[in-house]
Amino acid sequence: MIRFIEDPAERQKISREILEALTDWFEVEESREQYISESAGQPFWAAFENDTPAGFLCLKETGKETVELAVMGVRKEYHRNGIGRQLFEAARHFAVNEGYSFMQVKTVRSGVYADYDITNEFYKSLGFKELEVIEAVWGEDNPCQIYVMDLKSVLDIISKRHSYRGRFFEEPVPRKDLETIALAGIDAPSGCNKQTTELVIIDDPDVLNNVKSLIDPPVAQTAPAMIVVLAKRINAYRDKCFATQDYSAAIENMLLAAVSLGYQSCWYEGHITDDDRICDKIAAVLGVPEGYDVVCILPIGRALDEIKAPAKKPFEERVSFNHFGDK
Ligand SMILES: Cc1cc2nc3c(=O)[nH]c(=O)nc-3n(C[C@H](O)[C@H](O)[C@H](O)COP(=O)(O)O)c2cc1C
Repeated sequence: MIRFIEDPAERQKISREILEALTDWFEVEESREQYISESAGQPFWAAFENDTPAGFLCLKETGKETVELAVMGVRKEYHRNGIGRQLFEAARHFAVNEGYSFMQVKTVRSGVYADYDITNEFYKSLGFKELEVIEAVWGEDNPCQIYVMDLKSVLDIISKRHSYRGRFFEEPVPRKDLETIALAGIDAPSGCNKQTTELVIIDDPDVLNNVKSLIDPPVAQTAPAMIVVLAKRINAYRDKCFATQDYSAAIENMLLAAVSLGYQSCWYEGHITDDDRICDKIAAVLGVPEGYDVVCILPIGRALDEIKAPAKKPFEERVSFNHFGDK
């Protein structure tokens, strides 16, 4: 479980405990002490396993637009457990919400120490891009690799979005974020601008539980919020109805907006529109009037489990230039 730590003394206690267990990376006592001392005043998250700190991460503002992943450490026995990624996602969520455009992180360049090679791979897997190597920072024996991440890049968000079907953290999703996601949905294009997609945001725990109880087999049961997508099947012109295309565009916009704010979701449509018509039962609970179809539910929340990218076919198999099949 990931927790934001407020208390400066607790921050220092946790950072000391973790960094002193990671001397392969934090060998120099003086710089270790500096990280510990500075961590007291920095936004700080800790990961707990059975109430014991397993890792931590803290951020530092380095410019009006940029925040630095100042230091992070996860006990070796918890490596490859998704804890580093969860800590990072909590920090990214915070950085995006605080309005930062970039996150940077420094480490020793790949190819110098095996342990740091793993760190480099980890940062790259999170989406960090190589910015510059500067030897003057830690000396020529420890060339400093600076990585940067554009927190607002649409292309990055598109590549980071995956259907998430795991558990969510319990914490409620602020209304402001739900409104931002919904706004991204209704900002989507629609055939003849008929705007056939409407939304019901659910953040009331009682309503949420009523809806969840209808979903069989159960999915999204731990989601702290949900967006229910409604389609008004009216014609855009003559007998042409584009409601399906309209809500598809709205849903993709919302999925991307959710990921850009540090949340995860999944497009649950097949699950609720099958022969058992869960969608109609949801419509009844929400008081959706005649003329609208409930077509999809989007759980919204922060991921507690690992986010997995499914395999996709190679680019060449699906994309041609100028003539079908031409590469
Ligand atoms: C129209 C549509 C309906 C979907 N319905 C469901 C669903 O009912 N349940 C589910 O788990 N995923 C559903 N998905 C998500 C897909 O399974 C998922 O997009 C696909 O496996 C690719 O994975 P990705 O989203 O991580 O790229 C749906 C996606 C679309 C576009």
